[in-house]
Amino acid sequence: MAQETLLKGRVLSFTASPFEGEPEDAVRIDEAVLLSGGTIAAVGNHDALRAAHPQADLVDHGERLILAGFVDAHVHYPQTAMIASWGKRLIDWLNSYTFPEEMKFASPDYAAEIAGRYLDLTAAHGTTTMCSFCTIHPESVEAFFAAAQARGQRVVAGKTCMDRNAPEGLRDTAQTAYEQSRALLQRWHGLDRISYAITPRFSPTSTPEQLEAMGALWSENPDCLMQTHLSEQTDEIEWVRGLFPDARDYLDTYESFGLLGGNGLYGHAIHLEPRERDRLREVGGALVHCPTSNTFIGSGLFDMAGLMAEGQRIGLATDTGGGSSFSMLRTMAAAYEIGQLRGVPLHSAQLLWLATVGSAHALRMGHLIGNIAPGMEADLVVLDLASTPAISQRSDMASDLWEAVFPTIMMGDDRAVTEVWIGGRRKVF
Ligand code: GUN
Ligand code: ZN
Repeated sequence: MAQETLLKGRVLSFTASPFEGEPEDAVRIDEAVLLSGGTIAAVGNHDALRAAHPQADLVDHGERLILAGFVDAHVHYPQTAMIASWGKRLIDWLNSYTFPEEMKFASPDYAAEIAGRYLDLTAAHGTTTMCSFCTIHPESVEAFFAAAQARGQRVVAGKTCMDRNAPEGLRDTAQTAYEQSRALLQRWHGLDRISYAITPRFSPTSTPEQLEAMGALWSENPDCLMQTHLSEQTDEIEWVRGLFPDARDYLDTYESFGLLGGNGLYGHAIHLEPRERDRLREVGGALVHCPTSNTFIGSGLFDMAGLMAEGQRIGLATDTGGGSSFSMLRTMAAAYEIGQLRGVPLHSAQLLWLATVGSAHALRMGHLIGNIAPGMEADLVVLDLASTPAISQRSDMASDLWEAVFPTIMMGDDRAVTEVWIGGRRKVF
């Protein structure tokens, strides 16, 4: 029989979307969750679960919050070492900092070192699944998947394809992008907890021929996700207009090459035209909000309330290393701040939902990860709601759970993460 573990604490799960109806009504709090091997076996009353499973190991987390591990729906693991690079906006930032760092991933040893470093850092921050861009080097994908596989971790990633407007050494071609992506996809997609995402970086760094080749690969493998960037900065949008004079808008540079679909992930999506919003909603593509990146690189204010109200599918992400943090807590705080600048404060339940269920749905994995329910995968994070003196002096005054949680969302970091479970394996920090 599989090893059973009973975790006692305040087990938070979602029974509905907190963006529909009262946010607090979407949440359920239980006393305990039972893990069996790599799966969540039961959630409920502690005494009853204990009586029914007397052999289970018991871990008592007291007042701590137990929730699904965070899901980060858009990252660049190769940008780990250059996070927090000063003073540039998107295009200059890519040329000055990002591309030189990504060049280093021609070395399998460097790729393996950074993949391991990235997965260790993010686990310590409570992130159990992420969807990552790699570099143009197949070695960078191999290194990331191998590191995730060794950790039993559910991840999505793909080779970042670029065949123009990038330096020598960081360019492939339409043909090699197709062939290398297909070989990686065939080798890794569906192996253990690994999924492949077809990954054209963004339309400025792909020729129409390359976008067409990526669209063909996607049509041959429609169950794969496809990830890219969309309408992040106004300068970028102008550039796209010049490069694709016949396109109706930025989204059309993907749509016309078969790169718009329900399994598509469109990072940033800040400055959208009405037609783009309509088409994204019609096909059910996911928009990925990257708030620390949007303030750090100076991109703009994502319209969370408007996009949610019109029924878009939205995930939350760090966008490491354009984003300035590995922490999904810090990312929720930034989403709250952007909401405030837009005049709509997000409730803690909405922020936690975006970082778990919302991102899992964006990745089309809402049935596997992102929530605590019987049959789902055992990826969990345990949060101390009094992890620093500054936080505890505020949460001490809280009159309910939500007031106790919000200081950790706004001021918390990896110090709030006391335990993480990945695929039923416990990591202790
Ligand atoms: N657009 C194209 N590439 C990137 C990237 O690496 N980071 C961000 N934030 N935007 C991009
Ligand atoms: Zn990105």
